[in-house]
Formats: sequence, C-alpha cells, structure tokens
Amino acid sequence: MEILTVENYDEMSAEAANIIAQLLRLKQNAVLGLATGSTPEGLYACLVKMYEEKEIDFEKVTCFNLDEYAGLSPDHPQSYHYYMDRHLFSKVNVKKGNINIPRCGVENIETACRDYDKKIHQSGGIDLQLLGLGLNGHIGFNEPADYLQKDTHLVNLSRETIEANSRFFPTEDDVPRQAITMGVGSIMSAARIMLLASGEKKADAVKQMTCGKVSTHHPASLLQLHRNVLVIIDKEAARLI
Ligand code: GLP
Repeated sequence: MEILTVENYDEMSAEAANIIAQLLRLKQNAVLGLATGSTPEGLYACLVKMYEEKEIDFEKVTCFNLDEYAGLSPDHPQSYHYYMDRHLFSKVNVKKGNINIPRCGVENIETACRDYDKKIHQSGGIDLQLLGLGLNGHIGFNEPADYLQKDTHLVNLSRETIEANSRFFPTEDDVPRQAITMGVGSIMSAARIMLLASGEKKADAVKQMTCGKVSTHHPASLLQLHRNVLVIIDKEAARLI
C-alpha cells in the first residue's frame, strides 16, 4: 500500500485527478470504477476542468460506480445516479451507454447484481477503482461484519453509516436503510485502487486501514492485501499514522 500525504483537500483532489488523467492518456478506453460522497467532489471538478481544457477525453471510457441507495429513483437529488450526473457525467463526453451504476428499482435485484459483475468482467475489468472511506472503515457500502460478500449485493446499512450520511438528507429517517454495493471481491479485482480520505474525522479509519489488523470488521483494511493500492490523504487524515 503506497501512501501519499498531501497538504490539504485541494492537493489531494489534484493529485488524484492527475493519476486518472495519466491513465486516460495511456489508455483511451480505460475502465474506471467511481465513487461518491463528499471526498471525490474536488477530484471530479478537476477532471471536468481538464476535460474543458482538452487535456483528457472520456469518449471511449467506461465507468462502473461502486454503489447506490435502495429506494431512491435515479432523479432523486440524493441518489448516486444524480450525484454522478451533477459532478461528472453531464459535464464530460462520456457515452451514456458506457455509464454503469447499480440499479435498485429493478424486479430481481439478485439478477441485476450478478449482471453488474458480469458486465465488469466483460468490459475487461476495472483499470482503476476510486474509493472513499467510511468513518467505520466501509468501502463502497461494504459495512463492518463477521463476513463480507465478494460480489455485488444488497446490503443493510449500519447505524453509523445512516447517521454519517444523514447530513445529506432532511432528517435521519429519510436516509435509505439499504443499498446495492459492489462486493469486496469486485473491488479487489481492480488492477489498481486509489483511495482518498481527507480531514481529521477520517484519521482513525485511515490508521486502522493502513496499520491495523486485516479484518472484515474494518473492510478497508482488506486493501492491505491488494498489490496496487495508492492512498492519497491530507495531513489531517494522516494525523494518527
Ligand atoms: C458513502 C459511500 C462511500 C463513501 C463514504 C464516505 O457511504 N457509500 O462510497 O466512500 O460514504 O463518504 P464521504 O466522502 O462523504 O466521507
């Protein structure tokens, strides 16, 4: 696990955007695994700027998002479909047909999850998977537990996650209780993983992820087992390591 500590959020975003830009220049038809949350917003803004300045091109890029809330329609302002459209997809030339985000409003969720993993596989696999970090160590929506699921699946959100994500909703009761997430197997199959974390409140999760025991009770610690992980954190998130 390579750790790059930078001064602040803006530097973290710029470093991460440079890495994605390098990949897109080397491989025009790259497959990107994308994440949501507040952390990658700055990165997406940098990518949009690079695209506007004709430094990068998304025409042949394929994207797979990590997760989506169950029970929110794609046009709900807190859905990850809406988030991705707002921060990236509506602002660059990625083709609609190359955008993949787990869908929850489907009749057979299990089949939809299986098809999602199949599609990742058929695309040639994810070249670079972007991740944020939950306060409880979750990646995607893989919550701490005795056992973790390998493939894309429906998950019950933990109390901590509902509470942490309630800042985006009018009240805590409005936060969906379930989500679809890529499993840890789908995430760990990516050729390269880039995790971003910023701010003091992530410091403990960063410490457990980088120096703690590998445990399903801290899903991000499993990244210690991947061959090609880059963690980009700011000074505050790096405070305990
Ligand atoms: C959500 C997402 C995760 C994200 C995490 C951290 O629960 N499912 O993919 O990494 O929150 O979010 P933030 O970046 O807002 O701290």
